[in-house]
Amino acid sequence: MSFKNTRAVVSGGASGLGLGVVERIVAQGGKVAILDINDEQGQLIASRFPQQIIFCKTDISKEDDVDNAVDLAAKTFGSINLAVGCAGILGAGKIISKKGPMPADYFQKVIDINLMGTFLLTRAAAKHMQNNELPEPDSESNQERGVIVHTASIAAYEGQFGQVAYSATKSAIVGMMLPLAREFASSAIRCMAIAPGMFETPMLAKVPDDIREGLYKGIPFPSRFGTADEFAKMVEHIFDNQMLNGSVIRLDGAARLQ
Ligand SMILES: NC(=O)c1ccc[n+]([C@@H]2O[C@H](COP(=O)([O-])OP(=O)(O)OC[C@H]3O[C@@H](n4cnc5c(N)ncnc54)[C@H](O)[C@@H]3O)[C@@H](O)[C@H]2O)c1
Repeated sequence: MSFKNTRAVVSGGASGLGLGVVERIVAQGGKVAILDINDEQGQLIASRFPQQIIFCKTDISKEDDVDNAVDLAAKTFGSINLAVGCAGILGAGKIISKKGPMPADYFQKVIDINLMGTFLLTRAAAKHMQNNELPEPDSESNQERGVIVHTASIAAYEGQFGQVAYSATKSAIVGMMLPLAREFASSAIRCMAIAPGMFETPMLAKVPDDIREGLYKGIPFPSRFGTADEFAKMVEHIFDNQMLNGSVIRLDGAARLQ
């Protein structure tokens, strides 16, 4: 099984890791809805593959936006069998800095996008997936109704200085996986997360060269940032391998953050 018959929704699909997933699905003939707040970039990507991609401008932290976008994707494609959550922000900052305590609304914003967005996408996708017909036993597809893959981070386990808000959201995503898998088991829906190390995306593009060299040294092998396609290959494997459920896979070249 590959992404050939995939009918997916990908949050954060207009950039970085999410875009890597979108490109891999499209290359294999699948269909995908990009849910992203970046209107310009999302429209541009969708316009290149109008038969396979729809763009739904979505703020992942807004209940109505997410519900409407996933409803539209299910209506357009007939159903959805894969949801991938990649929308997220770094939300770096000290709790007490020279400027004073971190504003509560800044902390809340990180929670809303990274964590509430994960919940809202899961909820909207599972609502549709539970109504999918199970594939015929002799078909190429797994005997299941859908797969949900979210993006945590190795900062869920080894949060760095200034990552209190970010790490809180990523470890919460880790904590959601097993109860989600248990709850959705009766609907034949699987739920997994990937915890990436450092990947070459716009999120890390601003890292200066000298700091970048230092980061490479902290990645035992391969000593480089991962690519969006390496992330997308992991999503594809999770989609394919039915034994992966309720868990989190580190994808990090053995990196452990200081
Ligand atoms: N790049 C890395 O090294 C790395 C490492 C670990 C985890 N991650 C996680 O991977 C995910 C993707 O990160 P990336 O590196 O591809 O970053 P990115 O900045 O390239 O992409 C993030 C996407 O999310 C979208 N987005 C942001 N806020 C949104 C909102 N409110 N609603 C909808 N879309 C929104 C952005 O427009 C963008 O297209 C994030 O959750 C990030 O925390 C990235």
